[in-house]
Amino acid sequence: MSEPTLRSFVIGGAGFIGSHLVDRLVGRGPVTVYDNLSVGKPDFIRPHLESGRAVLVEADALDLDRLRAALRGHDVVFHLAANPEARWGLERTRLDLEQGTIVTFHALEACRLEGVRRFVLASSGTVYGDTERVCGEGDLGVLPISLYGASKLAGEALASAFVECFGLQAWILRFGNVVGPRGTHGAALDFLHRLRTAMSRQPAGEKVELEVLGDGRQSKPYLHVSDCADGILYAFDRATAPLNVFNLAPPDTTSVARIAELCIAASPLPQATIRYTGGDRGWPGDVPRSRLSPERLSALGFRVRQKSDEAVRLAVAELAREVFGEPLAHRLRFE
Ligand SMILES: NC(=O)c1ccc[n+]([C@@H]2O[C@H](COP(=O)([O-])OP(=O)(O)OC[C@H]3O[C@@H](n4cnc5c(N)ncnc54)[C@H](O)[C@@H]3O)[C@@H](O)[C@H]2O)c1
Repeated sequence: MSEPTLRSFVIGGAGFIGSHLVDRLVGRGPVTVYDNLSVGKPDFIRPHLESGRAVLVEADALDLDRLRAALRGHDVVFHLAANPEARWGLERTRLDLEQGTIVTFHALEACRLEGVRRFVLASSGTVYGDTERVCGEGDLGVLPISLYGASKLAGEALASAFVECFGLQAWILRFGNVVGPRGTHGAALDFLHRLRTAMSRQPAGEKVELEVLGDGRQSKPYLHVSDCADGILYAFDRATAPLNVFNLAPPDTTSVARIAELCIAASPLPQATIRYTGGDRGWPGDVPRSRLSPERLSALGFRVRQKSDEAVRLAVAELAREVFGEPLAHRLRFE
């Protein structure tokens, strides 16, 4: 169903999800990755840079002139650049305005000015706010509670306005929590890094405690990054409306306590214990329990391969290999 040759432009393409998307896009045609490398790494897309199937423009999407010049002549823009950590907005309150709302405006404006008509936006389930209701795409009754979520909702609204006013076609994908290899942030990676630090600092035989924010009962949908990248392209290939909005997540959830247990089991410190800081959420703005219904993608025929628990188990094994090295990968076989 995909076009014979697609010239793709991926803002944030050297990051976690972006690099997995680039892995797939290079099979469709030339790819330009536009990334300021604030978080992303050229190593994530190294094989494609070396084969010449992708090029990297190291630049910031806040620079509209540079962005315009770089995306000229492409068929589609995939926009994945953002502040990746919702809680960073608590310390730096302009971060999501700039890296979320303004960067998304620039991406859309550059498309308008350069005549690139197709635009794909990475959004998030945080747009549904603090509700325990299972949210389908039409359930925007509760507003976001973090600056990150607010910037995602603003980005979606901007995309909708550009579709209506300037004839763009847009696909908005609201992801659950995405996990997997080349992860750049998130609970699993954070726990594994803290266990590695404890391993190097702790005198032999001393008890190790992994601190987990909240009571551990926070639960969210976890999406494996391979399902994420496949789902984005599935929607892009098949949804034909001017504006296409999809949840992209498994319908179930996994708890933070479960992730912490899996990380400990995958580490060289399987005797480590967990200490919960308490409270129902990790930080102000964190939605403690969320569920997404991927009903529109299901109606198109897309199913994720991994439900939340499988996605997390697989991702912890993959990330443990990256954090601790190959020999420890065996630890998850019994899980
Ligand atoms: N990872 C998740 O769980 C998750 C969940 C929901 C939504 N999302 C969204 O998906 C997208 C990708 O997330 P990710 O997890 O791959 O994060 P990431 O940080 O790994 O990737 C983002 C990339 O954008 C680049 N970038 C950031 N600001 C930029 C700027 N101003 N100009 C140019 N490049 C810039 C970074 O260097 C990085 O390579 C983001 O929009 C994020 O909000 C992620």
